[in-house]
Amino acid sequence: MALRVSLARQVALAGRLSSSAAGGKRCFSATRAAASLSENAKQSIKRDAALPNPDPAPDSPSAALVNDHAPYMVATYARPPPVFVQGEGSWLWDIENRKYLDFTAGIAVTSLGHSDPEFADIIAQQAKTLVHASNLYYNPWTGALSKLLVEKTLEAGCMHEASKVFICNSGTEANEAAIKFARKVGNTLDPSGAKSDVVSFNQAFHGRTMGALSATHNPKYQKPFAPMVPGFKQGTYNDVAGIEALVDENTCGVIVEPIQGEGGIHAGSEAFMVALAKRCREVGAVLIYDEIQSGLSRTGDLPVLYASCSLCE
Ligand SMILES: Cc1ncc(COP(=O)(O)O)c(C=O)c1O
Repeated sequence: MALRVSLARQVALAGRLSSSAAGGKRCFSATRAAASLSENAKQSIKRDAALPNPDPAPDSPSAALVNDHAPYMVATYARPPPVFVQGEGSWLWDIENRKYLDFTAGIAVTSLGHSDPEFADIIAQQAKTLVHASNLYYNPWTGALSKLLVEKTLEAGCMHEASKVFICNSGTEANEAAIKFARKVGNTLDPSGAKSDVVSFNQAFHGRTMGALSATHNPKYQKPFAPMVPGFKQGTYNDVAGIEALVDENTCGVIVEPIQGEGGIHAGSEAFMVALAKRCREVGAVLIYDEIQSGLSRTGDLPVLYASCSLCE
């Protein structure tokens, strides 16, 4: 959960910060203000930031909005009470004008920060030009993005055979497509239909649609929606010795996160990732790297795997 930094305290200390009511335009220079703060003031801000964020009171504007809206919303999450109305860079403001440091970035979605002016201009321009043409037709951007991703991937020196991109709307949809590609390859290699197993690993998270969920062997997520899609097997992450028995001739695909992000940060060892790639090649299985959480420079180079080119040999 984000920590709250007392806005009032910053105003008092920095003397530069001016803020209007919730949702209004804010005008401040936080960086310059921070640089001019005394050691005492910095310590005091640090102390504030370390305080747990108190929940809005039952008679607060936040509670009023939640009480009004929540009855109409499917309760997919137990949401905490703050209601966010504005963001700037790494900062968020709630409906009561309280400031939070955004540690989650929408679970690694808003990696460029909130309300970047250049990004906002591009979106506004495109919205005024063409909103949607469907995937039945070409447009100037889907292919351009695909080309850029392939070029950057090759430039990074790994995935030497990277050549085509499938663009979609979410992580789970990307994994759904990857599983479908694996099944299609399996059925092409073995038209009997026997080559249809999809292997994934303990502690993994691959998404909430039925295929991706079937590869997410966590009873908390799977149980309410059972039965899962057939043909999904679970292996032990980083168990090199278990790979040979786990991935066999009936395996059409293996899906793995190079760095797992569910309930901690668990990195795949180089030995494990290399052995997995080797075994997939031996049995003709599609190897799927799920870098939804860790890729696109979120953990360093473009995809995580580029950190170790030996994995791609
Ligand atoms: C590793 C991984 N795969 C897939 C997903 C699903 O992505 P989305 O929420 O965009 O469907 C997530 C989401 O957090 C993820 O962390």
